[in-house]
Amino acid sequence: MGEGNIHIESVCAAEPKVNKTTEAHKNPIYASSTFRFNTIEEGISIFKDQPGGHVYTRYGNPGIEAVAAKIAELEVFGSPESAYGLLTSSGMAAIYTAVRCVLHSGDLLVTQQNLYGGTTELFEKILPSENIQCVALDLGDEDALDQVLSQHTRCNKAIFLETPANPSLQCLNIESISGLAKSYGAMVIVDNTFATPVLQRPLLLGADLVAHSTTKYLHGHGLSTGGAVIGRDEDLMRNKAWPFMKLTGCNSNPFDAWLLNTGLKTLALRIVRQSENAHYIAKRLQEMKGVNRVLYPGLTDFATHAVAAKQMSHFGAMLSFETGESLADAKLFCNKLRHCTIAPSLGETDTMVLHPATMSHLKVDPSIRKYYGITDNLVRMSVGLEHPDDILADIEQALVA
Ligand SMILES: Cc1ncc(COP(=O)(O)O)c(C=O)c1O
Repeated sequence: MGEGNIHIESVCAAEPKVNKTTEAHKNPIYASSTFRFNTIEEGISIFKDQPGGHVYTRYGNPGIEAVAAKIAELEVFGSPESAYGLLTSSGMAAIYTAVRCVLHSGDLLVTQQNLYGGTTELFEKILPSENIQCVALDLGDEDALDQVLSQHTRCNKAIFLETPANPSLQCLNIESISGLAKSYGAMVIVDNTFATPVLQRPLLLGADLVAHSTTKYLHGHGLSTGGAVIGRDEDLMRNKAWPFMKLTGCNSNPFDAWLLNTGLKTLALRIVRQSENAHYIAKRLQEMKGVNRVLYPGLTDFATHAVAAKQMSHFGAMLSFETGESLADAKLFCNKLRHCTIAPSLGETDTMVLHPATMSHLKVDPSIRKYYGITDNLVRMSVGLEHPDDILADIEQALVA
């Protein structure tokens, strides 16, 4: 027995008596799965008013919520609008949460054929089992989109788009697609992973929800896996998106959210410099022997350059190009790279390459790959923060090989 007749086990088990008046300069990690109430009345009142006060980390956590609010603020930056955010366990969880908080059994999702491969698989394999029909088309063809929407008047509809798209870099006109969607009462969800809110803000162009893989540029350092869902409609976010996240348990966790916040601090600097590097490299690649086709929204002869110029402040740090003539040429090129890393992700500080035809787009129908120019010798590059001449030198020596 020790001080005040308490056993040592009880002191070990108890929480330390923290000085609650101390304010940490940095957003702390609240590594607690649960939150305590001072009285039963306080607990009842906090439970009654969810989401709000803190109950349990799957429902909400102060560290996670602070970061979600910051991303929401970025998505409406420069406007008087407000937005509400949730952090999820991954980008896939964010996409699924966004779609399922607006669509239910019997509803329709219209999307593009050239999405991130995982999103296509989610829409093709999971949504039909929930009786949500999924139609994929070229969303650059707005007449075709109009036709599909006009044929489905008796159900709820949503349009899901990714712009710039992976790895074709096709840019879709968020404003005109959102306008068309509104005329049919359809919701618009945009995957803003490639552009980030620093370069493009879909909610201000008419979209209803934004989804992110924060694993990519928002965190930017390859240490944290996560996603975010952002919307302007508080009722939708509180009463549809939040319960979906809470009940499926696809929430973020204190440590990943804390890492995400650390990366977010340099997002504006990183994405602008990486975009400038990518633009410089894309222009130089056009003149390089052994490179046949360069896909980059910033090139004036790129098919959807005008759309990108209208809705993005820089053209992003992703580009794709064809090396040589064949699959063997692309493989040889990748294997000869000394500085750039072959890795199936993007948005980090170092340059990474991926071979879409055998990796991210392996399961995509060959006719769709052909339509979007995802050839066997196409290589995708996530341009990093290195000096662009060093990246070019690496590309050049690998091409010579
Ligand atoms: C555009 C895009 N959206 C979503 C995702 C899925 O993100 P996560 O891997 O964080 O689930 C990815 C992953 O590569 C992606 O490229």
